[in-house]
Amino acid sequence: MKSETIELLSNRELDKMRQAGRLAAELLNHLEPMVKPGVSTLEINDEAERWTLAHKAKSAPLGYKGFPKSLCTSINEVVCHGIPSAKQVLKEGDIINIDVTPLVDGYHGDTSKTFFVGKPSPTAKKLVEVTLECLNRGIAEVKPGARIGDIGAAIQEYAEGEGFSVVRNFAGHGVHRIFHTAPEILHYGRRGTGKRLRPGMVFTIEPMINEGTWEVEVLDDGWTAITLDRKLSAQFEHTVAVTEEGVEILTQA
Ligand code: MF3
Ligand code: CO
Ligand code: CO
Repeated sequence: MKSETIELLSNRELDKMRQAGRLAAELLNHLEPMVKPGVSTLEINDEAERWTLAHKAKSAPLGYKGFPKSLCTSINEVVCHGIPSAKQVLKEGDIINIDVTPLVDGYHGDTSKTFFVGKPSPTAKKLVEVTLECLNRGIAEVKPGARIGDIGAAIQEYAEGEGFSVVRNFAGHGVHRIFHTAPEILHYGRRGTGKRLRPGMVFTIEPMINEGTWEVEVLDDGWTAITLDRKLSAQFEHTVAVTEEGVEILTQA
């Protein structure tokens, strides 16, 4: 990530990103009805893999830096990068983030949502609603001439104002032919700092917001990140492009 130059995509490439982004959004919509008590995250993974191949795309997470499955499923205290498993069965009251990244004709569409399994607790409901609003407030900062730090500042101000915390260990990222590249999009920070946004930049915004401490630890599987205090964590992610007019959300169905 860090020091590479930020690519500006051509209109032809932006069209590819629109296709990939649309398929990613459609995949999440396709999986949503599976989010019910009794369903395992492996079943969700396997349906996503089948659907993705049927749409002439590939699952970018599968084999990425050794990741073993086709998407990430992060339940309750899992912050991100949860690995689908037959042993992980959804139960009433859980929250689950599903993070998908189909690779379509060489371009990546990266998006995630947190879903409720049945009826959420009041705290879970508030956390998920605040996290979605964090994503939307981050996106609202995106326009030519704005600074990358404006995005993180808007997210942090809102999340902390609602009594929650912002995960520091994972960030949004440039995404196009490459899954993770420059720029790095922190979800906390100060207004007026960081690089200026320019038309043609494409990146994700993917705030992870915690009920308690922002600190995380990674399990021995090398992937699953969980909150240090085992309280809840939620996340939403879109891939967006900076346009002359402002911002275009690419991961919409
Ligand atoms: N889709 C995740 C992101 O938002 C990355 C998953 S990488 C994996 O950046 F290897 F864990 F799949
Ligand atoms: Co991402
Ligand atoms: Co993602």
